[in-house]
Amino acid sequence: MNAADALIKKAESRDLLFGVIGLGYVGLPLAVELAKAGYRVLGFDVLQRVVTGLNAGHSHVKDVDDQELQAVRRAGTFEATTDGARLRDADAISICVPTPLSKFKDPDVSYIVAATDTVKQVLRSVQAIILESTTYPGTTREIMLPALESTGLKVGKDFFLAFSPERVDPGNPQYHTRNTPKVVGGITPDCLRVVCALYQAAIDTLVPVSTTEAAELVKLLENTFRSVNIGLANEMAIVCDKLGVDVWEVIDAAATKPFGFMKFTPGPGLGGHCIPIAPHYLAWKMRGLNYKTRFIDLAGEVNTEMPAFWVRKVADALNQASKAVRGSTVLVVGVAYKKDIDDLRESPALDIIKLLEQQGASVTYHDPYVPQFEENGHSFHSVPLTSQSLAAADCVIIVTDHSAVDYGLIRRGAKVIVDTRHALDRGKASA
Ligand SMILES: NC(=O)c1ccc[n+]([C@@H]2O[C@H](COP(=O)([O-])OP(=O)(O)OC[C@H]3O[C@@H](n4cnc5c(N)ncnc54)[C@H](O)[C@@H]3O)[C@@H](O)[C@H]2O)c1
Repeated sequence: MNAADALIKKAESRDLLFGVIGLGYVGLPLAVELAKAGYRVLGFDVLQRVVTGLNAGHSHVKDVDDQELQAVRRAGTFEATTDGARLRDADAISICVPTPLSKFKDPDVSYIVAATDTVKQVLRSVQAIILESTTYPGTTREIMLPALESTGLKVGKDFFLAFSPERVDPGNPQYHTRNTPKVVGGITPDCLRVVCALYQAAIDTLVPVSTTEAAELVKLLENTFRSVNIGLANEMAIVCDKLGVDVWEVIDAAATKPFGFMKFTPGPGLGGHCIPIAPHYLAWKMRGLNYKTRFIDLAGEVNTEMPAFWVRKVADALNQASKAVRGSTVLVVGVAYKKDIDDLRESPALDIIKLLEQQGASVTYHDPYVPQFEENGHSFHSVPLTSQSLAAADCVIIVTDHSAVDYGLIRRGAKVIVDTRHALDRGKASA
């Protein structure tokens, strides 16, 4: 039996050890789903505290609850380790490490390079390697493949290499790892066949594409689509502001068109690990091919300017109340980058706070999901949302529209309100 058929047979019988490198927002839910599907799973992370916590049954990722984690721990199907050498026993290894931007907004693939090196140390015959991290087209073939083949093993014959982008949407109550269709592209047809067989047990719908580059580009198209459309909605917010028209009324009315329109909404700017970052991976790749990705650049510009737009709205609102930003207390409601999650990464709230402080405001915040955070050496602690904290603020700016926030209380108790999310008027106010 050849290596591909041997791995497929193992997948069918579930008698297989699945390694997952990087146990964060993406890797942990995937690892738990693979364990629930009947595989034995070995999660590898460089952070000892993450590994110790997971082995003790404590999840640090909101989409995986402790009970779910403890169930796979009790069943003996999930274990975490900081010892990368143990991945030698893994029949398949999924890589879910971060792909941030450098200071100059160039791709930082150093985590992929490090994870590839870990895999290289343990690569053996009859093993499948899958990259999940969002990255530019060509990464799997140009960075991973040569490193792995330098061991003397041959792709498509001895080992199998594929790219399969993760689409997890943290906090989404409807779609999670299993029921979100998963795109897979292999270096060779057998790579695709093997990886589809491996994921079939844990994912309801697989979407095979012809190459790793196509799979890499799918993820970037999805994120760019959102960035560009949010950028358009944000530009509409600026246009409507200048025209004195309610942008939300315009968008809601446009959304009644049953075809040819998809609703996107304006806000304080982009946040999270994906949408503000991934399009720059494509822009960077295309710069190297002498092509300027204009939609990406323009959407990035508009979205990045939104925090400054909202800080100007705070200044205008305070001015109406005969106050200056300098010396005023501004209460920021919601600092997570989107509703009902605790993730602060790239959150526009951080830019808004920084700009307000630069202009001399004293900033407090309330976020039911983020009890505290550090930024620029400054430690922030969430204040309770009460009539007292509202009365103490000269202005309240709603940045994240968490469901758990009492917008009725804000409406009744705040002196001046700037609402970046239209949260007060979306039927959330408790009167
Ligand atoms: N968070 C999301 O919503 C989301 C959605 C889709 C895709 N993605 C993509 O998935 C990838 C992972 O993102 P994430 O949000 O899970 O990141 P994360 O920061 O939550 O988790 C990454 C984990 O990898 C670990 N790690 C870093 N280097 C390592 C190494 N060399 N070996 C082992 N472990 C290592 C870190 O300690 C961390 O625990 C990124 O490319 C991201 O763009 C993220």
